[in-house]
Amino acid sequence: MMMTPEDSLAWIESRRSVFPKEFNGDPVSKEEVHALLEAARWAPTHKVTEPWSFQVFMGEPKNELAKTQIQGLYNAKGKNDDTEMKAKKFTMIADRSSAVIAIVLRRDPLMRVPRYEEEWAVAAAVQNIHLHAHALEIGMYWSTGASKGRPEVDALLGLDEHDLHMGWIYVGRYAGLKTLSKDRKSVEDYVTWK
Ligand SMILES: Cc1cc2nc3c(=O)[nH]c(=O)nc-3n(C[C@H](O)[C@H](O)[C@H](O)COP(=O)(O)O)c2cc1C
Repeated sequence: MMMTPEDSLAWIESRRSVFPKEFNGDPVSKEEVHALLEAARWAPTHKVTEPWSFQVFMGEPKNELAKTQIQGLYNAKGKNDDTEMKAKKFTMIADRSSAVIAIVLRRDPLMRVPRYEEEWAVAAAVQNIHLHAHALEIGMYWSTGASKGRPEVDALLGLDEHDLHMGWIYVGRYAGLKTLSKDRKSVEDYVTWK
């Protein structure tokens, strides 16, 4: 066994979402992002359809993505105080993140399992990435809040009718240790024994 049960639980328990405003500005390299995404491969997946795909935006493409997100926002909602504030947030995220990664569900061409099962498998893959980022001392979090369903962004991602954009992973350097900000339910709260 590679780690004790106590170590395993402590690892899972001490993983935290790290937000772009907390990144320290040091870069995460392309090789490190590659290593991070390696963890996705081992997620459970019904009929081993492996429905996850990731589009990595680093350097200039990352700035282009932010521009597209801002344009999509203005096209949908116009320019006002609220959208200008949101536009600044897109720019801040692009500036502070070493990589912005689009999480995209690519369906099994044979459609052997229902789509919701493919979504669950992608979520499992993202959690693998989260846990591995923790080991690599790379900060990240999964965001679904930004630019969902904007045609300009979907076009940039080249989505087809069966694909589903499941949000973004923002990646940056974070060598600190975050503590749990909120208490979690106890096992007794979410388990019933039959
Ligand atoms: C599917 C999914 C979508 C999320 N979307 C957002 C988001 O849009 N904005 C955000 O601030 N956090 C988002 N989060 C991260 C949660 O805020 C975070 O997991 C939660 O605060 C618990 O913190 P922890 O990950 O450190 O345990 C998302 C998490 C998941 C699983």
